[in-house]
Amino acid sequence: PVITSTERDLPHEILALLANKDTVVTNQDYPEISQPRIKAAIDRLGSRSMVEYDTKDSEIVILTPEAEGICEQGSHEYKVWDAVRKQGKVEIAELPNVVGKDSAKIGASGALRNKWVSKDGKFLVPVAKEAKDSARELLQKVQQTNSLSDAKALTDLKKRKLVKTGKLINYVVRKGPKYAKEIPFEATDLTSEMLSSGSWQTTDFKPYNFKALGGLQNSGALHPLNKVRAEFRQIFFNQGFVEMPTNRFVETGFWNFDTLFVPQQHPARDMQDTFFISDPPAGDKPRECPEAEKAMDDMERGARTLYATPEPRPTKPRDYEQYWKNTQAVHEKGAFGSIGYRYKWSEKESLRLVLRTHTTAISTWALHRLAEDPRPARYFSIDRVFRNEAVDATHLAEFHQVEGVIADFGLTLGGLMKFLEDFFAKLGITGLRFKPAYNPYTEPSMEIFGYHEGLGKWVEIGNSGMFRPEMLEPMGLPADMRVYGFGLSLERPTMIRYGVSNIRDLLGHKVDLGFIESNAAVRLEKN
Ligand code: PHE
Repeated sequence: PVITSTERDLPHEILALLANKDTVVTNQDYPEISQPRIKAAIDRLGSRSMVEYDTKDSEIVILTPEAEGICEQGSHEYKVWDAVRKQGKVEIAELPNVVGKDSAKIGASGALRNKWVSKDGKFLVPVAKEAKDSARELLQKVQQTNSLSDAKALTDLKKRKLVKTGKLINYVVRKGPKYAKEIPFEATDLTSEMLSSGSWQTTDFKPYNFKALGGLQNSGALHPLNKVRAEFRQIFFNQGFVEMPTNRFVETGFWNFDTLFVPQQHPARDMQDTFFISDPPAGDKPRECPEAEKAMDDMERGARTLYATPEPRPTKPRDYEQYWKNTQAVHEKGAFGSIGYRYKWSEKESLRLVLRTHTTAISTWALHRLAEDPRPARYFSIDRVFRNEAVDATHLAEFHQVEGVIADFGLTLGGLMKFLEDFFAKLGITGLRFKPAYNPYTEPSMEIFGYHEGLGKWVEIGNSGMFRPEMLEPMGLPADMRVYGFGLSLERPTMIRYGVSNIRDLLGHKVDLGFIESNAAVRLEKN
């Protein structure tokens, strides 16, 4: 069986070698062992004072692949001479076919210069009976010793790209004060047996290594997205927001689109942009969802205790059927001051099941719930949404949305801008810019831009607006109630925060678990 170098007991080998000689020079005595393994072995002995060592750098000479070929087959000029000698004569034009293209070019002139061959018309004919291939011999010697003392020859070989030089770290190892051929046993733990037998008094203990790094602890690690999510939640909670229940990835078109005044023939409702569910293909008409109701109740109650706001007033039951009819009316012929889209609104289209394309579907649900008892309210959510997009470095078919909704009387657009400025300032993003945009459900709408120091340019960080009256009033919200809405992706700020440039390194099946485990707790930004 082949003994691989990993099975060798290097520390004992070094001790045995030092029994017979004063110094061990690692690159001479162990040329085949890698530098880190040598270092580990002598450090192990050094920590017990069994050896001492000095470090000595040396230059080594390494052959290029071309030179290795010469070592095996001979120099180019030798190959030409050898071929000419064996065949009696070789036509010069034929030489590449005989000795190869590379050797023919350099080899012919070399062989002529050495007077090993001579020209006879179109042919080369042999001259020398014997040829000493000194180029090959020189390279073979370099190959064996990894050195070349003749400086002129070295520069010459380097220039011809036959050798390269590199640096090698050597250790010159000698016996230390506690040298022995065997490594003595050193106990690492004080045991109860040692105490009861008294053997601790004579046992050799391994000294503490205060330079040792701590061992890696087995522990869970939070995904960067979760860390940034926790930060966002804290910012929301600190401002009195209540978290909406988002644990439903599948919605009907009604909640995801129709209630948001997205017409049924809007391109966003296309298969190119939205994932439709095929089994079952359709959901129920809007109706009470007791689980979501309870979750939202619990969260509002929690927030009330925290902020000591008054107990809620008794609620009036929600009329889902009326909401359904109102929504249809707004689309088909207009209502609540809107002229509508004026098309035949399809119930079937409204009941189609989709993977929600935005968490605004949840915000709508929460606003409809608010209509039971219209009062100032602040809601937020952070969860996954799905879009049928081509996947690339910055887009995935699923990502997380951070969304906030503020309902109150007498709100203005300026108030939304101020709120967003304060909100993003808490994340360290200041000096926002707003750009007019379009959402079917908000008017006015604004894209939010922040200046990215690292990229040196303005990047879009969110979308926002004031919900349209024809979206709010069908729910039963009073006409003088205004509602802000804004949304952003959780991935974008996380990528900026953790210096990730490809979204697939952050989310999806290609994520490296090592990155999740080892990424920094905080990233210190240069400001
Ligand atoms: N739904 C929007 C989006 O997906 C975000 C948004 C929410 C915009 C609320 C305005 C109001 O980008």
